[in-house]
Amino acid sequence: MERNIKKLVILGSTGSVGTQTLDIVRAFPDCFEVIGLCNGFNTPLFKVQLDEFKPKYFSTLGDIESGYGGAKAAPAEEIVAMPEVDIVVAATVGCVGMPASISALKAGKTLGLANKEVIVMSGNLLIETAREGGATILPIDSEPSAIWQCLEGEVSEPSRLIITASGGAFRDRTWASLDDVTPDQALKHPTWTMGAKITIDSATLMNKAFEVIESRWLFEIPFEQIDVTIHRQSIVHSMVEFADGTLKAQLGPTSMGQPIQHALFYPSRKPNSDLPKLDAVTMGSLTFEEMDQSLYPCFELALEYGKRSGTYSAALAGADEGAVELFLNGKIKFTQIPDLVSETLAAHTSIADPSIDDTIEAARWATETTLARHNHSTILS
Ligand SMILES: NC(=O)c1ccc[n+]([C@@H]2O[C@H](COP(=O)([O-])OP(=O)(O)OC[C@H]3O[C@@H](n4cnc5c(N)ncnc54)[C@H](OP(=O)(O)O)[C@@H]3O)[C@@H](O)[C@H]2O)c1
Repeated sequence: MERNIKKLVILGSTGSVGTQTLDIVRAFPDCFEVIGLCNGFNTPLFKVQLDEFKPKYFSTLGDIESGYGGAKAAPAEEIVAMPEVDIVVAATVGCVGMPASISALKAGKTLGLANKEVIVMSGNLLIETAREGGATILPIDSEPSAIWQCLEGEVSEPSRLIITASGGAFRDRTWASLDDVTPDQALKHPTWTMGAKITIDSATLMNKAFEVIESRWLFEIPFEQIDVTIHRQSIVHSMVEFADGTLKAQLGPTSMGQPIQHALFYPSRKPNSDLPKLDAVTMGSLTFEEMDQSLYPCFELALEYGKRSGTYSAALAGADEGAVELFLNGKIKFTQIPDLVSETLAAHTSIADPSIDDTIEAARWATETTLARHNHSTILS
C-alpha cells in the first residue's frame, strides 16, 4: 500500500513557528518529506536543519554554498512552486514572506499561513490568487485556526467571530505609563513564547488588529462582525457565534504545536505525545473582559487603515515592521510606535486596485520611510 507522504516546504524554518513545524515533522517521520527549507541569517541552525532533514532545495540569506548536504540553492519563490510540493508553511516574519506565498498560491499549493503580515498586506489579492490558482490557505496562527476549527462541519454562516487576546506584556498598565519600558520588558509575553516581532506586536495589540484583518479575509466576513475580548489565560483561542445564539469555542494549551499539526494533517487528527495537553479540571478559571481600546492606540490605528482599500494595509504592515525594528534596537520609545506608524500612513499615497508588485512596493516604502523618519524626530537621547 502506497503511503500518503506530504511533501513540504518551510519558509522561515529557523524561527519559532518554523522550528515547531520541524518538531511535528520529526514526530511523524513516515508522513512528511521535506522538499525545501528557507531562512534568513541564522546559518548555524539552518545547517543543522539541512543536515537532519536533507531537503532537495534550500534558500538562505546566509553564506551556504549550493550543494551543501546534497541540497541545491534556489530562490524561495521557485522552491515553493516545484511540481512535487504539496504544502508550504509560511513561517517567515513580516512582509518579506509575500512573494514566496504568492508563488505557492499561483502554483495551486496548500499554504499553511502563520506569516500574518502577508494577508494583512492585501487580503483580497491573496484570496483572489488562491482562487485563481486552485490553492488552499489553511490558518496556522492560533486564533484564526481556532475560528476555522469552530467552523468545520457547519453549513450556516457565523453571525460573529470573537477573537481572544491575552492583552500582552503590559495589559495591566495604562498607555501613558509605558513611556520608559525597555525591549526586554516588552519581550516578556505573559502566556506565549514567540519571535521578537510578534511579541512586540502583542504588547501594542497591533498583532490583534492584524488577526482581525486576517480573519476578515480568511473567513470572508465583514469587520463589523468581528469582536475582540481580553482572555488572560490564552486557553480559549477564539470563538464563533451562530444565528441561534450558540457560541462555539476552541480550547487548547498555549502551544503552536496543535495549530501547526492541524494544518499539516488536515482533515485528520493524529496523536502526538510531544504536545502538551489541557486538563479541564486543573486549568482553572477562564475570564473574559471587554477590551478597553483606549489602552491600545495601535489597535484602532491598524483597523482604521486595514479597512481601507488600495495599498494602505500594505503600508500599515510595512510601517509597523519599521517601527518595531526601531523599538527593538533602542532607537524609539515603546509609546512612539503608533506615532511613527501613523505619520508614515498619513504620508502614504495609496494606489487603487494595486497589483502584487504595488503591494510589495507600498510595504517596502512604508518600512523605509518609518526607519528614516526617526532620524528627523526628537526621540531617545
Ligand atoms: N511564534 C509564534 O508563536 C507565532 C504564532 C502565530 C503567528 N505567528 C506568525 O508567524 C510568523 C513567524 O513568527 P515567528 O515568531 O516564528 O518569527 P521568528 O521566530 O522571528 O522567525 C522568523 C523566520 O523568518 C526568517 N526570516 C527573517 N527575515 C527573513 C528574510 N528577509 N528572508 C528570509 N527569511 C527571513 C528567519 O530566519 P533567520 O532566523 O534564519 O534569520 C526565521 O526563520 C510571523 O508572521 C508571526 O506573526 C507566530
